[in-house]
Amino acid sequence: MFFVAKIFFTLSVFTTVFCEAYTPIVMWHGLADTCCLYPSQGKIASFIRKTLPGVYVLQLKIGITQLDDFVNSIVMHPDKQIEIACNIIQKDPLLANGYNAIGWSQGSQLMRGLAQRCPEPKMKTLITMSGQHQGVYGFPLCDPITKPFCDWLRQFINQFAYLRIVQKTFVPTTYWHNPLNKEAYLSGSTYLADINNEKYINQTYIKNLQLLENFVMVKYENDTGVIPKESSWFGFYKEGQSIQVESLYESELYITDRLGLKQMNEAGKLHLLSNDWQHTQFYEDWFKEYIIDKFLTN
Ligand SMILES: *[C@@H]1O[C@H](CO)[C@@H](O)[C@H](O)[C@H]1NC(C)=O
Ligand SMILES: *[C@@H]1O[C@H](CO)[C@@H](O)[C@H](O)[C@H]1NC(C)=O
Repeated sequence: MFFVAKIFFTLSVFTTVFCEAYTPIVMWHGLADTCCLYPSQGKIASFIRKTLPGVYVLQLKIGITQLDDFVNSIVMHPDKQIEIACNIIQKDPLLANGYNAIGWSQGSQLMRGLAQRCPEPKMKTLITMSGQHQGVYGFPLCDPITKPFCDWLRQFINQFAYLRIVQKTFVPTTYWHNPLNKEAYLSGSTYLADINNEKYINQTYIKNLQLLENFVMVKYENDTGVIPKESSWFGFYKEGQSIQVESLYESELYITDRLGLKQMNEAGKLHLLSNDWQHTQFYEDWFKEYIIDKFLTN
């Protein structure tokens, strides 16, 4: 009996040491998507599993069913979603030694919120794909520079986006960022203005974000879903207008280091990458070369 137990013990040590070659990965999907459907996240997860044999990939599902998950991505406030995600991750023994995270679109800023609010277990590398770190000011596929109607649509959305009831029930409004009225944004945005330390500086957010070993942000050059697309790199419209965009490095957020991003950059932790994808595109070759091989094989 003792002998059998000993073999089991040896085997389990063996598998722990030799089969967990890769750091586990947690993925978070975008708005109106689900954790696991094949054409989108399911396909990406299986590509990662094929490329890194034996890797554990957790596709976050907020709710019991995939339908719940889909609906929650549209209507459940990010604060609540992050609380649930934190709980799922903390209960998962396979993630106890830390994990790498990939956020897709809206999942990017949710995953970053998770890093800032849920430091245990440790998120090692955070990868965000076409995220909206400075929010959006525009409707997907509607180019406000070339179509006057699109600018009218923005003004229309400004009328209700920051109402409490709307913030509570429609997730995209929590990262609606009106550059023409900073006060309205600061007092109205119930998620983005908070995690970007714009309302006040929460030192816990800075401290937790510093725990990351790498923060990789990918901007898609052909992206017409994220307006402006520079938001994927923390770029945004200069205050007071909605045409000219400033980069992360030109922003007050960076210069005054409100979120610790300057500190991270100086420590070599920030990686700003781009490809030529459209918002919902995914190409395995690029993803393998620039993301998997560089950041997920540790
Ligand atoms: C700062 O963030 C932490 C982590 O989410 C939270 O527990 C704390 O209440 C926040 N502090 C303030 C002053 O809001
Ligand atoms: C991105 O747009 C350019 C210019 O329109 C086009 O040539 C290229 O094929 C697009 N990229 C992808 C991945 O579709």
